[in-house]
Amino acid sequence: VKLVTTHQLLAMKQRGEKISMLTAYDFSMASILDGAGIDVLLVGDSASNVMAGHETTLPITLDQMIYHAQSVIRAVKRAFVVVDLPFGSYQGNSSEALRSAVRVMKESGAHALKLEGGAEIKDSITRILTAGIPVMGHLGLTPQSIYKFGTYSVRAKEEAEAQKLIEDALLLQEIGCFAVVLEKIPSKLAKQVAEQLTIPVIGIGAGPDVDGQVLVVHDMLGINKEFKPRFLRRYAELHEIMSDAVRHYVQDVKNRDFPTQEEAY
Ligand code: KIV
Ligand code: NA
Repeated sequence: VKLVTTHQLLAMKQRGEKISMLTAYDFSMASILDGAGIDVLLVGDSASNVMAGHETTLPITLDQMIYHAQSVIRAVKRAFVVVDLPFGSYQGNSSEALRSAVRVMKESGAHALKLEGGAEIKDSITRILTAGIPVMGHLGLTPQSIYKFGTYSVRAKEEAEAQKLIEDALLLQEIGCFAVVLEKIPSKLAKQVAEQLTIPVIGIGAGPDVDGQVLVVHDMLGINKEFKPRFLRRYAELHEIMSDAVRHYVQDVKNRDFPTQEEAY
């Protein structure tokens, strides 16, 4: 199987083939997603919520992100693997950003990094790019800044914020990012950005007129029952399936139906 590369992602945009992307945080899940043909795997800092049970993405550490990235990389045969730099590991200090970036690349074997923000983190992104590390941008709803926004509601509905987002997207492309994620913004704005940029634009809650889609895998598989934003399509109800299986197992153990003679040595 041929590995997905930044060049292939660009070629996909050029020929109008949509890019599929999902999060992954562990070996077993990453094997399934890679085997099923996903183009890009994101070791998202949403691991802070999904894997660790935190309210926000702020607490997850660089070491924890590296652990998740190592597990995913061991499983992957084809997908392009992008890792989020976590909160506090890159903002406001380009030397520290480069140090964090190099650690993730060296210790996990990841293919690229994702950083949240535009002009504010230009120096950090530029510095990382000079080391030959591909960077994916992330604009719109940026969960590492949740306490600045105050809510997880749709971003860039006002003209000023929309204008700033367009400028940031153009800046990210100009300094050399290979792609940009747009999270939870009006689809009209996302369409405009995807048309203006030559690099791929991947949306989450950004409508259909972008170059690809990303979802948190636990959300789209219905493992996580509570989270139900409009943009989320559930492709399975694994919460029910897994709960039924476990209830069944508990019952079998209690009733001495498991194990049978055939299941024993
Ligand atoms: O961490 C994450 O899951 C993300 C995606 C939602 C884009 O950044
Ligand atoms: Na993230």
